[in-house]
Amino acid sequence: MKKIGKLLLSAMMAMSLVACSSAGKGVSGEYTGTAKGLGGDVNVTLTLKDSVITDVKAEGKQETEGIGTKALEQLPGEMVEGNTINVDGVSGATVTSDAIKEAAKEALKSAGLNPDDYATANAGKKEEDVTKDADVVVVGAGGAGMTAAIVAANEGKNVVVVESQSAAGGNSVRATGGMNAAKTTYQDENTFEESAGVEKTLAAAEAYKDNKDIAALTETVKKQWDEYQKDPKGYFDSTELMELDTMIGGKAVNNFDLVKTLVENSADSIEWLSTIGADLKNVGQFGGASVKRIHRPVNDQGQVVSVGSYLIPILEKQVEKEGVEVLYNTTANKIIMKDGKAAGIEAEGKTGNKVTVNAKAVVLATGGFGANNDMVAEQNPDLKGYITTNANGAQGQGITMATADDVNAATVDMKQIQLHPTVHVEGDNAVLITEGLRGDGAILVNQSGERFTDEVGTRDVVSAAENSQEGGYAWLIVDQKMADASAVIQGYIDKGYAEKGETYEELAKAMEMDEKTFASTMDEWNKCVESKKDEKFNRTTFADKLDTAPYYAIKVQPGVHHTMGGLVIDTNTEVLDTDNNVIPGLFAAGEVTGGVHGANRLGGNAVADFVVFGRIAGTQAADYVG
Ligand code: FUM
Repeated sequence: MKKIGKLLLSAMMAMSLVACSSAGKGVSGEYTGTAKGLGGDVNVTLTLKDSVITDVKAEGKQETEGIGTKALEQLPGEMVEGNTINVDGVSGATVTSDAIKEAAKEALKSAGLNPDDYATANAGKKEEDVTKDADVVVVGAGGAGMTAAIVAANEGKNVVVVESQSAAGGNSVRATGGMNAAKTTYQDENTFEESAGVEKTLAAAEAYKDNKDIAALTETVKKQWDEYQKDPKGYFDSTELMELDTMIGGKAVNNFDLVKTLVENSADSIEWLSTIGADLKNVGQFGGASVKRIHRPVNDQGQVVSVGSYLIPILEKQVEKEGVEVLYNTTANKIIMKDGKAAGIEAEGKTGNKVTVNAKAVVLATGGFGANNDMVAEQNPDLKGYITTNANGAQGQGITMATADDVNAATVDMKQIQLHPTVHVEGDNAVLITEGLRGDGAILVNQSGERFTDEVGTRDVVSAAENSQEGGYAWLIVDQKMADASAVIQGYIDKGYAEKGETYEELAKAMEMDEKTFASTMDEWNKCVESKKDEKFNRTTFADKLDTAPYYAIKVQPGVHHTMGGLVIDTNTEVLDTDNNVIPGLFAAGEVTGGVHGANRLGGNAVADFVVFGRIAGTQAADYVG
């Protein structure tokens, strides 16, 4: 049926070609082509006038919100501008970008034109060098950079942002889970359910009793917990408990002052987000957190949605509202130093032209280096060739620029690179499958159909457990009830990432594993949920039984997710040099910095990091400028 439709369409196009062409004047009319995107068909309609592309419409209903949709918004304009289909793809949206170009090619073919004639329209054109003056230049338009820019501009400063990619968002737009924050009003709206998480953390803290910060936190949390149990009011959490979780999760490698700054500003940052129109009201459970603390956005149906693709457009709008200029496709490569102070940046524009931004303060928010496998492997050779969840822009440029001889910034924890245990490989793409699924009740089974770990453990532990299973992968299991509550899960299913079965046995068959073993694993798990006890792996958060058909399984494996190491900063986000002195005028926030997360970042702490430290960087840079 589909094929007949396509044939008919081609015939109609051929007719419109005849109808709209006039001898010697080229082709005019509308022509549509189709190609396979990440989630389904991508359709591109070209409007041609005398064989010149005058309008392009791209549509792909299943492309990823905030990533693929960026390509759908952006590429058509570039095609028209250059009268070409050879435009740069949007970083991180390679499959959608390629599909748009392929569909445009098909449209040209159906117009009887040669796509090769539309391949080089802009080639070789070098734009003029540009020089700009600003109070503050921010390098990177991800979460940290945009937050810093908004805050500095709101304080009346003239702010310019340079972004190496063609769209804003960086790794932040890929953040799926949510934002950790302690003692928020949203937490108090939860009912008191599970206590074992706190007890488990207090027991785990024993291993770190020689660390004075952890010992002091443990004492305080014990007291708070005892008091709470005597008279439970609201939902139990405290800044000290979040600090304890973050320190234990980071194996006490973290800089405690930065952890305190992160946590003490987390609840206020949730409020700040709501002042710019971003509400993170749903509170869920993530790995390594003693209690429900990850704050997530929901859609109009009350389903949880991806935090990054929700927050980034809101930040972008706010950046625009504050009058911040953003230079895309502009890769910073040098920090300008004058009299020992940061005084701007030099960058390369899209066409190789030089872009200089002279500024009184520089904020580095370039993200980590997870997408630069050479740099990753230099720090940890075992990770050579590993897949990554990171956006292309995470190349470590901020670290390279700031450690140049004339800047001399110090780095810390560079070898601490996090593997995320649930990354799904789809064609050439590594797709992050959010930890939220496990927090909300999903389990992991190996190819023998058996559970093998506490699924809500920290990422390092779950990744190591997965790597030790046959094949180094696992299956993440959810049921229809979970899918109904989460647009994120529904999205994974719609994109074809999941196997499906009406019964446990049917799902086992789809995963090519022993049906009896898998079915008995599921029965056993449902009993654990009922009794709220997991004797085998000591999981302490259960959510609901996985007993609503159909059932789904997504194949997952560990992938490079977060680089915990980076530039040394103080609690004012000032970058320190190798002698521990502040580098005047140089600030940094987000994944480009090190020390906040220690040896292992907790899920939900990256968004907290970029909002909290992005806000501080914006305020501090504005104050420094005066
Ligand atoms: O699994 C996730 O949704 C990732 C969250 C995070 O890295 O913070």
